[in-house]
Amino acid sequence: MSLHPVSKMIRTRVEQTNEMEHSSPLFLTSSFSFDNAEEMRAAFADENDDNIYSRFSNPSVQEFTDRMCVLEGMESGFATSSGMSAVFASILTFLKKGDHLISCNAIFGSTHTVITKILPKYGIEYTYVPVYDIASWEAAVQDNTKMIYLESPTNPGLDLIDLKEVGDLAKKHGLIYCVDNCFATPIGQLPVEFGADLVVHSATKWLDGQGRVLGGIVLGSKKLIHEIYLFCRSTGPALSPFNAWVLSRSLETLEVRMERHASNAFYLSQQLQNHPAISWLKYPFLESHPQYAIAKKQMKNGGGLFCFELKGGLDNGRKFLDNLKMLSRTANLGDTRSIASHPASTTHAKLTEEERQAVNITPGLIRISCGLEHRDDILNDILQAL
Ligand SMILES: Cc1ncc(COP(=O)(O)O)c(C=O)c1O
Repeated sequence: MSLHPVSKMIRTRVEQTNEMEHSSPLFLTSSFSFDNAEEMRAAFADENDDNIYSRFSNPSVQEFTDRMCVLEGMESGFATSSGMSAVFASILTFLKKGDHLISCNAIFGSTHTVITKILPKYGIEYTYVPVYDIASWEAAVQDNTKMIYLESPTNPGLDLIDLKEVGDLAKKHGLIYCVDNCFATPIGQLPVEFGADLVVHSATKWLDGQGRVLGGIVLGSKKLIHEIYLFCRSTGPALSPFNAWVLSRSLETLEVRMERHASNAFYLSQQLQNHPAISWLKYPFLESHPQYAIAKKQMKNGGGLFCFELKGGLDNGRKFLDNLKMLSRTANLGDTRSIASHPASTTHAKLTEEERQAVNITPGLIRISCGLEHRDDILNDILQAL
């Protein structure tokens, strides 16, 4: 019987034990034992897929990985302890001294640090291209370019990059094309349809969806993921089996949650876009988004986040956060509880004004992660805080 990907994902699970449990058990174990020396030798010689040690593989982690493969339409995956370890492994597995990476300055802060501060320490060069100018992506390709790395929608500015155009470019020049799909989730967008070789996630966000565990994953072909597996097996960013078990359960409700998060975000952005305290508001599925056509082409919904620029800059941004009565002030997103953040006074406060501008953090930028509270309660809290 052929199943819709979401049904297939929900029905993908670790093999049932003799107890006939309906829900998957949690394999909370560091290592696995063998009946005899020959079996152990064969496992270490990679002659079979037996589990050896949970830094390499674990059934609970495998269940989460298999479910994500179904959702992202990818052959294989490796789950990691956080989104950042997935980002790091996806780049460092494939790039070495003298190689070059193309990315975009509209990118998550820690990924920006990896690209601009950590990669150069290993002799890996990078070029940042402007988010809106696809022609400059091709102009940035050099003889030593190995990878294009991007996220769309971007964090926190919700800019979009045409995944197909960049995918075609990567293919033309034989580059590994890696997309961080954290903001859209596989429910909202499938990078594999546009040529992505690798898809990266912070599972900490929408995949968990309740702000409980850290996790990450990289998905791709068997060949590429085997390389990532070898890198991670020795460097050790394994996902905890407990976190994997939590994440697997979360995936079962991902589609229904994302539909509601997205419809709340769409409603709120429509209601707020012309508010006099705001100079602009961005949501991928609003016609006023500068890249609305790209959003409609590559996304199935606009996602659960929107952002706006408060008039009055830094001071009003701080005041807005202080005025909130229900929304959480916290450094996360993708939760059942709505969250407001003001990057200029928090995550990016240590940067100079110029540095903030370079990564598209304007003084009054507010990012809202829409939760699952009633949409009118979220709206009323934002309105009274404005
Ligand atoms: C787009 C994006 N990628 C990666 C990460 C890193 O994920 P983690 O915090 O799980 O390491 C984040 C975290 O906010 C993110 O927003």
